[in-house]
Amino acid sequence: MRISVIGCGYLGAVHAAAMAALGHEVVGIDVDAAKVEALQAARAPFFEPGLPELLAEASATGRLSFSADMAQAAGASVHFLCVGTPQKRGEFRADLTYVETAFAELLPHVRPGDLVVGKSTVPVGTAEDLAERLVGTGAHLVWNPEFLREGFAVQDTLHPDRLVYGVESADGEPTEDGAHARKVLDEVYATPLSEGIPLVVTDYATAQLVKVAANSFLATKISFINAMAELCEATGADVTSLADAIGYDARIGRRFLNAGLGFGGGCLPKDIRAFMARAGELGVSDALGFLKEVDSVNMRRRVRVVDLAREVCDGSIVGRRVAVLGAAFKPNSDDVRDSPALSVAAQMQLQGAEVTVTDPEAITNAAAKWPDLRFAPTALEAARGADVVLLATEWDEYRSIDPDALAEVVAHRRILDGRNVLDPGRWRAAGWTYRALGRP
Ligand code: UGA
Repeated sequence: MRISVIGCGYLGAVHAAAMAALGHEVVGIDVDAAKVEALQAARAPFFEPGLPELLAEASATGRLSFSADMAQAAGASVHFLCVGTPQKRGEFRADLTYVETAFAELLPHVRPGDLVVGKSTVPVGTAEDLAERLVGTGAHLVWNPEFLREGFAVQDTLHPDRLVYGVESADGEPTEDGAHARKVLDEVYATPLSEGIPLVVTDYATAQLVKVAANSFLATKISFINAMAELCEATGADVTSLADAIGYDARIGRRFLNAGLGFGGGCLPKDIRAFMARAGELGVSDALGFLKEVDSVNMRRRVRVVDLAREVCDGSIVGRRVAVLGAAFKPNSDDVRDSPALSVAAQMQLQGAEVTVTDPEAITNAAAKWPDLRFAPTALEAARGADVVLLATEWDEYRSIDPDALAEVVAHRRILDGRNVLDPGRWRAAGWTYRALGRP
Protein backbone atom coordinates (compact mmCIF):
# COMPACT_ATOMS: atom_id res chain seq x y z
CA MET A 1 0.00 0.00 0.00
CA ARG A 2 1.07 3.61 -0.44
CA ILE A 3 1.24 5.36 2.89
CA SER A 4 2.06 8.86 4.07
CA VAL A 5 3.15 9.55 7.65
CA ILE A 6 2.66 13.17 8.70
CA GLY A 7 5.03 14.18 11.52
CA CYS A 8 8.38 12.39 11.92
CA GLY A 9 9.14 12.75 15.62
CA TYR A 10 9.59 9.88 18.10
CA LEU A 11 6.32 8.36 16.89
CA GLY A 12 6.20 9.16 13.17
CA ALA A 13 9.82 8.38 12.24
CA VAL A 14 9.58 4.93 13.78
CA HIS A 15 6.12 4.33 12.33
CA ALA A 16 7.22 5.33 8.81
CA ALA A 17 10.27 3.05 8.89
CA ALA A 18 8.24 0.18 10.40
CA MET A 19 5.50 0.49 7.74
CA ALA A 20 8.15 0.35 4.99
CA ALA A 21 9.76 -2.67 6.67
CA LEU A 22 6.32 -4.34 6.60
CA GLY A 23 6.31 -3.97 2.80
CA HIS A 24 4.45 -0.71 2.22
CA GLU A 25 5.61 2.22 0.13
CA VAL A 26 5.97 5.09 2.57
CA VAL A 27 6.65 8.80 2.49
CA GLY A 28 7.33 10.51 5.82
CA ILE A 29 6.54 14.22 5.91
CA ASP A 30 7.80 16.76 8.43
CA VAL A 31 8.11 20.56 8.51
CA ASP A 32 11.63 20.30 9.99
CA ALA A 33 13.97 20.26 6.97
CA ALA A 34 16.98 19.11 9.02
CA LYS A 35 15.04 16.11 10.33
CA VAL A 36 13.86 15.24 6.83
CA GLU A 37 17.41 15.45 5.51
CA ALA A 38 18.72 13.12 8.23
CA LEU A 39 15.92 10.59 7.75
CA GLN A 40 16.29 10.70 3.97
CA ALA A 41 19.95 9.78 4.51
CA ALA A 42 18.75 6.90 6.78
CA ARG A 43 20.14 8.66 9.87
CA ALA A 44 18.00 8.65 13.02
CA PRO A 45 17.46 12.27 14.18
CA PHE A 46 17.19 11.14 17.82
CA PHE A 47 18.49 8.25 19.94
CA GLU A 48 16.27 5.21 19.77
CA PRO A 49 17.69 1.68 19.98
CA GLY A 50 17.08 -0.28 16.78
CA LEU A 51 15.92 2.73 14.76
CA PRO A 52 19.18 3.19 12.77
CA GLU A 53 19.04 -0.47 11.71
CA LEU A 54 15.33 -0.28 10.85
CA LEU A 55 15.89 2.91 8.81
CA ALA A 56 18.81 1.35 6.96
CA GLU A 57 16.82 -1.82 6.23
CA ALA A 58 13.73 0.10 5.10
CA SER A 59 15.66 2.66 3.03
CA ALA A 60 17.58 -0.11 1.24
CA THR A 61 14.28 -1.49 -0.07
CA GLY A 62 13.67 1.83 -1.87
CA ARG A 63 10.20 1.93 -0.32
CA LEU A 64 10.91 4.68 2.23
CA SER A 65 11.37 8.38 1.52
CA PHE A 66 11.00 11.61 3.47
CA SER A 67 9.98 15.09 2.41
CA ALA A 68 9.14 18.52 3.83
CA ASP A 69 6.50 18.97 1.14
CA MET A 70 2.95 17.95 2.09
CA ALA A 71 2.09 17.57 -1.61
CA GLN A 72 4.10 14.33 -1.50
CA ALA A 73 1.20 12.84 0.48
CA ALA A 74 -0.88 12.93 -2.69
CA GLY A 75 -1.13 9.45 -4.17
CA ALA A 76 -0.94 7.65 -0.83
CA SER A 77 -4.20 5.97 0.12
CA VAL A 78 -3.52 5.88 3.89
CA HIS A 79 -2.32 9.00 5.74
CA PHE A 80 -1.12 8.58 9.31
CA LEU A 81 -1.30 11.69 11.51
CA CYS A 82 1.64 11.39 13.92
CA VAL A 83 2.26 14.99 15.01
CA GLY A 84 2.84 15.97 18.64
CA THR A 85 0.23 17.32 21.04
CA PRO A 86 2.34 19.01 23.73
CA GLN A 87 1.00 20.71 26.84
CA LYS A 88 -0.23 24.23 26.08
CA ARG A 89 2.11 26.87 27.48
CA GLY A 90 0.96 27.94 30.91
CA GLU A 91 -2.15 25.74 30.77
CA PHE A 92 -3.03 22.19 31.72
CA ARG A 93 -4.52 21.29 28.34
CA ALA A 94 -3.30 19.87 25.05
CA ASP A 95 -2.02 22.17 22.33
CA LEU A 96 -3.63 20.94 19.11
CA THR A 97 -1.88 23.43 16.81
CA TYR A 98 0.20 20.75 15.07
CA VAL A 99 -2.82 18.48 14.53
CA GLU A 100 -4.85 21.38 13.16
CA THR A 101 -2.11 22.60 10.81
CA ALA A 102 -1.12 19.14 9.56
CA PHE A 103 -4.74 18.17 8.93
CA ALA A 104 -5.55 21.42 7.11
CA GLU A 105 -2.47 21.05 4.90
CA LEU A 106 -3.20 17.41 4.19
CA LEU A 107 -6.85 18.00 3.27
CA PRO A 108 -6.27 19.25 -0.33
CA HIS A 109 -4.29 16.08 -1.07
CA VAL A 110 -6.74 13.40 0.08
CA ARG A 111 -8.80 11.56 -2.52
CA PRO A 112 -12.12 9.68 -2.31
CA GLY A 113 -11.60 6.32 -0.57
CA ASP A 114 -8.43 7.46 1.25
CA LEU A 115 -8.03 6.80 4.94
CA VAL A 116 -6.81 9.44 7.37
CA VAL A 117 -5.54 7.59 10.44
CA GLY A 118 -5.11 9.56 13.66
CA LYS A 119 -2.33 8.29 15.93
CA SER A 120 -1.57 11.43 17.94
CA THR A 121 -2.78 11.54 21.57
CA VAL A 122 -5.72 13.95 21.54
CA PRO A 123 -8.54 15.14 23.80
CA VAL A 124 -11.63 13.01 23.19
CA GLY A 125 -13.81 14.76 20.62
CA THR A 126 -10.96 15.68 18.29
CA ALA A 127 -11.52 12.68 15.99
CA GLU A 128 -15.20 13.53 15.61
CA ASP A 129 -14.27 17.11 14.56
CA LEU A 130 -11.73 15.89 12.02
CA ALA A 131 -14.16 13.28 10.61
CA GLU A 132 -16.70 16.05 10.11
CA ARG A 133 -14.18 18.00 8.08
CA LEU A 134 -13.56 15.01 5.80
CA VAL A 135 -17.23 14.87 4.81
CA GLY A 136 -17.45 15.73 1.12
CA THR A 137 -13.92 14.56 0.31
CA GLY A 138 -14.92 10.90 0.14
CA ALA A 139 -12.05 10.08 2.52
CA HIS A 140 -12.62 8.43 5.92
CA LEU A 141 -11.17 8.83 9.37
CA VAL A 142 -9.97 6.08 11.73
CA TRP A 143 -8.58 6.64 15.22
CA ASN A 144 -5.71 4.25 15.80
CA PRO A 145 -3.91 5.27 19.01
CA GLU A 146 -0.25 4.47 19.48
CA PHE A 147 1.15 2.83 22.60
CA LEU A 148 4.88 2.73 21.89
CA ARG A 149 7.39 3.40 24.64
CA GLU A 150 10.52 5.38 23.91
CA GLY A 151 13.50 3.07 24.18
CA PHE A 152 11.37 0.18 22.87
CA ALA A 153 9.69 2.03 20.02
CA VAL A 154 10.77 -0.30 17.22
CA GLN A 155 9.67 -3.45 19.02
CA ASP A 156 6.42 -1.83 20.20
CA THR A 157 5.59 -0.67 16.65
CA LEU A 158 6.34 -3.98 14.94
CA HIS A 159 4.92 -6.17 17.73
CA PRO A 160 2.38 -4.09 19.67
CA ASP A 161 0.46 -5.48 22.67
CA ARG A 162 -2.77 -4.63 20.86
CA LEU A 163 -4.20 -2.65 17.98
CA VAL A 164 -7.17 -0.36 18.44
CA TYR A 165 -9.28 1.00 15.58
CA GLY A 166 -11.81 3.70 16.31
CA VAL A 167 -14.15 3.73 13.31
CA GLU A 168 -17.25 5.66 12.40
CA SER A 169 -20.21 3.95 13.98
CA ALA A 170 -23.94 4.35 14.44
CA ASP A 171 -25.70 2.81 17.46
CA GLY A 172 -22.39 1.24 18.42
CA GLU A 173 -22.07 -0.66 15.11
CA PRO A 174 -19.54 0.28 12.41
CA THR A 175 -21.15 2.03 9.45
CA GLU A 176 -20.35 1.05 5.86
CA ASP A 177 -17.53 3.62 5.87
CA GLY A 178 -16.34 2.25 9.21
CA ALA A 179 -16.27 -1.28 7.78
CA HIS A 180 -14.28 -0.05 4.75
CA ALA A 181 -11.81 1.72 7.05
CA ARG A 182 -11.31 -1.45 9.05
CA LYS A 183 -10.66 -3.49 5.89
CA VAL A 184 -7.98 -1.04 4.72
CA LEU A 185 -6.25 -0.92 8.14
CA ASP A 186 -6.35 -4.72 8.33
CA GLU A 187 -4.29 -4.70 5.12
CA VAL A 188 -1.85 -2.14 6.52
CA TYR A 189 -1.33 -4.22 9.66
CA ALA A 190 -1.61 -7.63 7.96
CA THR A 191 1.74 -8.81 9.38
CA PRO A 192 1.17 -7.97 13.08
CA LEU A 193 -2.43 -9.22 12.83
CA SER A 194 -1.19 -12.52 11.38
CA GLU A 195 0.93 -12.90 14.55
CA GLY A 196 -2.27 -12.96 16.57
CA ILE A 197 -1.97 -9.46 18.05
CA PRO A 198 -5.33 -8.63 19.68
CA LEU A 199 -7.48 -6.14 17.83
CA VAL A 200 -10.19 -3.97 19.39
CA VAL A 201 -12.55 -2.33 16.92
CA THR A 202 -14.61 0.39 18.53
CA ASP A 203 -16.03 3.89 18.08
CA TYR A 204 -14.09 7.16 17.86
CA ALA A 205 -14.68 8.25 21.45
CA THR A 206 -13.58 4.94 22.97
CA ALA A 207 -10.46 4.75 20.80
CA GLN A 208 -9.35 8.22 21.87
CA LEU A 209 -10.12 7.44 25.52
CA VAL A 210 -8.21 4.13 25.44
CA LYS A 211 -4.95 5.97 24.98
CA VAL A 212 -5.35 8.49 27.78
CA ALA A 213 -6.92 5.87 30.05
CA ALA A 214 -3.89 3.60 29.53
CA ASN A 215 -1.41 6.39 30.25
CA SER A 216 -3.43 7.53 33.27
CA PHE A 217 -3.42 4.00 34.66
CA LEU A 218 0.35 3.72 34.21
CA ALA A 219 0.90 7.11 35.86
CA THR A 220 -1.41 6.07 38.71
CA LYS A 221 0.52 2.84 39.22
CA ILE A 222 3.81 4.75 39.50
CA SER A 223 2.35 7.35 41.84
CA PHE A 224 0.75 4.62 43.95
CA ILE A 225 4.11 3.03 44.63
CA ASN A 226 5.68 6.45 45.20
CA ALA A 227 2.96 7.22 47.74
CA MET A 228 3.86 3.91 49.43
CA ALA A 229 7.47 5.12 49.37
CA GLU A 230 6.39 8.11 51.46
CA LEU A 231 4.84 5.68 53.96
CA CYS A 232 8.03 3.62 53.92
CA GLU A 233 10.09 6.72 54.66
CA ALA A 234 7.85 7.48 57.64
CA THR A 235 8.12 3.95 59.03
CA GLY A 236 11.55 2.66 58.05
CA ALA A 237 10.04 0.15 55.61
CA ASP A 238 11.51 -0.76 52.20
CA VAL A 239 9.39 0.10 49.15
CA THR A 240 11.33 -2.24 46.84
CA SER A 241 10.46 -5.30 48.97
CA LEU A 242 6.91 -4.01 49.29
CA ALA A 243 6.65 -3.73 45.48
CA ASP A 244 8.07 -7.23 45.03
CA ALA A 245 5.63 -8.66 47.53
CA ILE A 246 2.48 -6.99 46.20
CA GLY A 247 3.67 -7.50 42.61
CA TYR A 248 3.56 -11.31 43.00
CA ASP A 249 -0.21 -10.95 43.03
CA ALA A 250 -0.94 -11.35 39.31
CA ARG A 251 -3.86 -8.94 39.66
CA ILE A 252 -1.39 -6.23 40.68
CA GLY A 253 1.77 -7.21 38.74
CA ARG A 254 5.31 -6.00 39.37
CA ARG A 255 5.76 -3.89 36.22
CA PHE A 256 5.56 -0.10 36.61
CA LEU A 257 5.92 -0.42 40.38
CA ASN A 258 9.43 1.02 40.52
CA ALA A 259 9.48 3.76 43.12
CA GLY A 260 11.89 6.65 42.75
CA LEU A 261 11.97 10.04 41.12
CA GLY A 262 8.69 9.36 39.35
CA PHE A 263 7.44 9.79 35.83
CA GLY A 264 8.43 12.41 33.28
CA GLY A 265 8.72 12.59 29.53
CA GLY A 266 6.60 13.97 26.74
CA CYS A 267 3.60 11.74 27.47
CA LEU A 268 2.46 10.73 30.96
CA PRO A 269 2.66 14.15 32.69
CA LYS A 270 0.99 16.15 29.94
CA ASP A 271 -1.52 13.42 29.11
CA ILE A 272 -2.96 13.20 32.63
CA ARG A 273 -3.20 17.00 32.77
CA ALA A 274 -4.89 17.28 29.37
CA PHE A 275 -7.25 14.45 30.38
CA MET A 276 -8.26 16.33 33.54
CA ALA A 277 -8.82 19.50 31.51
CA ARG A 278 -10.99 17.62 29.02
CA ALA A 279 -12.99 15.97 31.81
CA GLY A 280 -13.65 19.47 33.17
CA GLU A 281 -14.96 20.63 29.79
CA LEU A 282 -17.21 17.57 29.67
CA GLY A 283 -18.60 18.37 33.14
CA VAL A 284 -17.13 15.25 34.78
CA SER A 285 -14.04 16.65 36.46
CA ASP A 286 -14.85 14.69 39.67
CA ALA A 287 -14.24 11.45 37.75
CA LEU A 288 -10.59 12.34 37.33
CA GLY A 289 -10.04 14.16 40.63
CA PHE A 290 -7.61 11.40 41.66
CA LEU A 291 -5.27 12.30 38.80
CA LYS A 292 -4.52 15.57 40.56
CA GLU A 293 -3.17 13.49 43.45
CA VAL A 294 -1.26 11.28 41.01
CA ASP A 295 0.41 14.43 39.65
CA SER A 296 1.09 15.81 43.15
CA VAL A 297 2.64 12.59 44.48
CA ASN A 298 4.84 12.53 41.39
CA MET A 299 6.04 16.11 41.75
CA ARG A 300 6.66 15.68 45.50
CA ARG A 301 9.33 13.04 44.77
CA ARG A 302 11.38 15.69 42.97
CA VAL A 303 11.21 17.89 46.06
CA ARG A 304 12.00 15.00 48.39
CA VAL A 305 15.26 14.16 46.66
CA VAL A 306 16.46 17.75 47.05
CA ASP A 307 15.61 17.49 50.77
CA LEU A 308 17.59 14.24 50.93
CA ALA A 309 20.60 15.99 49.38
CA ARG A 310 20.29 18.70 52.02
CA GLU A 311 20.04 16.08 54.79
CA VAL A 312 23.20 14.24 53.76
CA CYS A 313 25.05 17.55 53.33
CA ASP A 314 24.51 18.51 56.98
CA GLY A 315 21.53 20.79 56.35
CA SER A 316 22.57 22.88 53.34
CA ILE A 317 23.40 22.39 49.67
CA VAL A 318 24.57 25.97 49.19
CA GLY A 319 27.99 25.84 47.54
CA ARG A 320 27.97 22.01 47.60
CA ARG A 321 29.02 20.14 44.48
CA VAL A 322 26.36 17.78 43.22
CA ALA A 323 26.88 15.24 40.42
CA VAL A 324 23.68 14.17 38.68
CA LEU A 325 23.91 10.90 36.76
CA GLY A 326 21.28 11.04 34.03
CA ALA A 327 19.52 13.80 32.11
CA ALA A 328 17.08 11.85 29.94
CA PHE A 329 13.59 11.24 31.37
CA LYS A 330 14.34 7.52 31.24
CA PRO A 331 17.18 5.26 30.09
CA ASN A 332 17.71 4.37 26.42
CA SER A 333 16.37 7.71 25.29
CA ASP A 334 17.83 11.16 24.62
CA ASP A 335 14.47 12.78 25.36
CA VAL A 336 14.65 15.41 28.12
CA ARG A 337 11.06 16.63 27.99
CA ASP A 338 9.85 17.06 31.58
CA SER A 339 12.80 14.99 32.77
CA PRO A 340 12.75 14.42 36.55
CA ALA A 341 16.58 14.27 36.47
CA LEU A 342 16.92 17.72 34.94
CA SER A 343 14.16 19.29 36.96
CA VAL A 344 15.91 18.14 40.17
CA ALA A 345 19.32 19.27 38.86
CA ALA A 346 17.93 22.72 38.04
CA GLN A 347 16.19 22.96 41.41
CA MET A 348 19.39 22.16 43.29
CA GLN A 349 21.29 24.70 41.23
CA LEU A 350 18.64 27.35 41.98
CA GLN A 351 19.06 26.55 45.66
CA GLY A 352 22.76 27.30 45.49
CA ALA A 353 24.42 23.97 44.69
CA GLU A 354 27.07 23.61 41.99
CA VAL A 355 25.53 20.96 39.79
CA THR A 356 27.20 18.90 37.07
CA VAL A 357 25.03 16.62 34.96
CA THR A 358 26.07 13.71 32.78
CA ASP A 359 24.18 11.38 30.45
CA PRO A 360 25.28 8.88 27.80
CA GLU A 361 22.97 10.30 25.10
CA ALA A 362 21.02 13.33 26.26
CA ILE A 363 23.63 16.01 27.01
CA THR A 364 23.08 17.91 23.76
CA ASN A 365 19.32 18.08 24.28
CA ALA A 366 19.75 18.88 27.98
CA ALA A 367 22.23 21.70 27.35
CA ALA A 368 19.91 23.23 24.76
CA LYS A 369 17.09 23.35 27.33
CA TRP A 370 19.09 24.14 30.48
CA PRO A 371 22.16 26.09 29.31
CA ASP A 372 22.93 27.25 32.85
CA LEU A 373 23.69 23.74 34.09
CA ARG A 374 27.20 22.31 33.86
CA PHE A 375 27.68 19.10 31.88
CA ALA A 376 30.36 16.42 31.87
CA PRO A 377 30.82 13.58 29.37
CA THR A 378 31.18 10.74 31.89
CA ALA A 379 30.00 9.83 35.37
CA LEU A 380 33.55 9.91 36.74
CA GLU A 381 34.15 13.41 35.37
CA ALA A 382 30.80 14.67 36.66
CA ALA A 383 31.57 13.22 40.09
CA ARG A 384 35.06 14.72 40.41
CA GLY A 385 35.13 16.64 43.71
CA ALA A 386 31.42 16.00 44.34
CA ASP A 387 29.94 16.33 47.82
CA VAL A 388 26.99 14.19 46.78
CA VAL A 389 26.16 12.02 43.76
CA LEU A 390 22.56 11.54 42.59
CA LEU A 391 21.62 8.64 40.33
CA ALA A 392 18.63 10.17 38.54
CA THR A 393 18.17 8.07 35.37
CA GLU A 394 18.86 4.34 35.59
CA TRP A 395 21.04 3.80 32.51
CA ASP A 396 22.79 0.39 32.72
CA GLU A 397 26.18 2.04 33.03
CA TYR A 398 25.05 3.90 36.17
CA ARG A 399 23.36 0.82 37.66
CA SER A 400 26.63 -1.05 37.37
CA ILE A 401 28.94 1.78 38.43
CA ASP A 402 31.75 0.62 40.73
CA PRO A 403 31.49 2.32 44.16
CA ASP A 404 35.27 1.98 44.70
CA ALA A 405 36.12 3.67 41.38
CA LEU A 406 33.67 6.49 42.10
CA ALA A 407 35.05 6.87 45.64
CA GLU A 408 38.43 7.77 44.18
CA VAL A 409 37.14 10.96 42.52
CA VAL A 410 34.51 12.35 44.90
CA ALA A 411 35.12 14.69 47.83
CA HIS A 412 32.53 12.90 50.01
CA ARG A 413 31.08 9.42 49.66
CA ARG A 414 27.39 10.26 49.60
CA ILE A 415 25.11 8.60 47.06
CA LEU A 416 21.41 9.26 46.50
CA ASP A 417 19.76 6.43 44.58
CA GLY A 418 16.91 8.27 42.85
CA ARG A 419 15.74 5.10 41.07
CA ASN A 420 16.29 2.37 43.69
CA VAL A 421 18.60 0.39 41.44
CA LEU A 422 21.80 0.20 43.48
CA ASP A 423 22.68 -2.41 46.09
CA PRO A 424 22.73 -0.51 49.41
CA GLY A 425 24.87 -3.19 51.09
CA ARG A 426 27.58 -2.96 48.46
CA TRP A 427 27.73 0.84 48.57
CA ARG A 428 27.76 0.98 52.37
CA ALA A 429 30.50 -1.65 52.47
CA ALA A 430 32.54 0.61 50.20
CA GLY A 431 32.22 3.41 52.77
CA TRP A 432 29.37 5.36 51.20
CA THR A 433 26.43 7.05 52.89
CA TYR A 434 23.60 5.53 50.83
CA ARG A 435 20.16 7.15 50.76
CA ALA A 436 17.20 6.34 48.54
CA LEU A 437 13.54 7.17 48.05
CA GLY A 438 11.37 4.84 50.11
CA ARG A 439 14.23 2.69 51.37
CA PRO A 440 15.89 2.79 54.77
C1 UGA B 1 4.47 6.11 27.83
C2 UGA B 1 3.66 4.82 27.83
O1 UGA B 1 4.32 3.82 28.62
C3 UGA B 1 3.46 4.29 26.41
O2 UGA B 1 2.65 3.13 26.42
C4 UGA B 1 2.80 5.39 25.58
O3 UGA B 1 2.61 5.00 24.24
C5 UGA B 1 3.69 6.63 25.61
O4 UGA B 1 3.86 7.07 26.97
C6 UGA B 1 3.01 7.70 24.80
O5 UGA B 1 1.97 8.19 25.24
O6 UGA B 1 3.45 7.99 23.68
P1 UGA B 1 7.10 6.64 27.62
O7 UGA B 1 6.71 8.06 27.92
O8 UGA B 1 8.01 6.35 26.48
O9 UGA B 1 5.77 5.77 27.33
O10 UGA B 1 7.80 6.07 28.91
P2 UGA B 1 7.43 5.06 30.08
O11 UGA B 1 8.21 3.83 29.91
O12 UGA B 1 5.97 4.94 30.25
O13 UGA B 1 8.04 5.85 31.33
C7 UGA B 1 7.47 7.10 31.73
C8 UGA B 1 8.15 7.61 32.97
O14 UGA B 1 7.78 6.82 34.10
C9 UGA B 1 9.67 7.61 32.95
O15 UGA B 1 10.13 8.85 33.48
C10 UGA B 1 10.05 6.46 33.85
O16 UGA B 1 11.29 6.65 34.47
C11 UGA B 1 8.92 6.48 34.86
N1 UGA B 1 8.67 5.17 35.52
C12 UGA B 1 8.29 4.10 34.79
C13 UGA B 1 8.79 5.08 36.90
O17 UGA B 1 9.11 6.06 37.60
N2 UGA B 1 8.54 3.87 37.51
C14 UGA B 1 8.17 2.78 36.81
O18 UGA B 1 7.95 1.72 37.42
C15 UGA B 1 8.04 2.89 35.43
